[in-house]
Amino acid sequence: MDINGRVSDSNSETAMTDSNIQTQLPADWFRRIDETPDEDFYREPRFVAHIDQATIDALSAFYREFIPVGSDVLDLMSSWISHLPDDMSFGRVAGLGMNEAELAANPQLSDFCVHNLNDEPRLPYFEGAFDRIILAVSVQYLTRPLEVMKSARAALRGGGAICIAMSHRLFPTKAVLAFHELGPSERVQLVGHYLKSAGFSDVDFEDRSPPDADPLWLVIGRR
Ligand SMILES: C[S@@+](CC[C@H](N)C(=O)[O-])C[C@H]1O[C@@H](n2cnc3c(N)ncnc32)[C@H](O)[C@@H]1O
Repeated sequence: MDINGRVSDSNSETAMTDSNIQTQLPADWFRRIDETPDEDFYREPRFVAHIDQATIDALSAFYREFIPVGSDVLDLMSSWISHLPDDMSFGRVAGLGMNEAELAANPQLSDFCVHNLNDEPRLPYFEGAFDRIILAVSVQYLTRPLEVMKSARAALRGGGAICIAMSHRLFPTKAVLAFHELGPSERVQLVGHYLKSAGFSDVDFEDRSPPDADPLWLVIGRR
């Protein structure tokens, strides 16, 4: 497969038309148009919403069901918004992302770190540190997703769970080839495969797309 010729403005998102554990999937799927360091692409903060407000509201509503009150939560690939319900209380809410200014502006985070998961897929957290992990509209940027998911599983306590929220927008130059080539249901299957391969059980899919707004596809896995 060839990703050349698909370049568009690397600073704007467009709607999609449709180690060794990584070797289970075609290596080509994890190439990107822009292989320059992610630090360059994410150097400037983007204080924008990446999905419609109705889709954000649907995601927050799901989090209300998915995350028990008082949980320690990790927001992976975080920015200035985590979409957690404002009126819920949590324990720790840690954020990991690429832009310090975005993370510092996120009022829901209790701590954050700047960490490039494509350079170092192991998460910088102790084993069993969290009850829930959330990862919103960003999984398409992971070049080593199986390693990241394996480490995410280790960062969860027994009974913990992860939710990977997906929609149909992406930064074309930074999304891996698989997310250009596969249709929506195949992308959901691929992310389910990431979780199963990393040892998550009860991997499940929910379509929480609101009408007339960006879709919301959720892949959930339990530790
Ligand atoms: C489309 S934004 C989504 C941000 C946020 N989760 C949200 O729902 O608005 C993509 C996010 O992925 C993060 N990201 C991209 N590449 C990354 C990498 N290599 N390592 C860690 N985070 C990354 C960026 O910091 C950015 O915040």
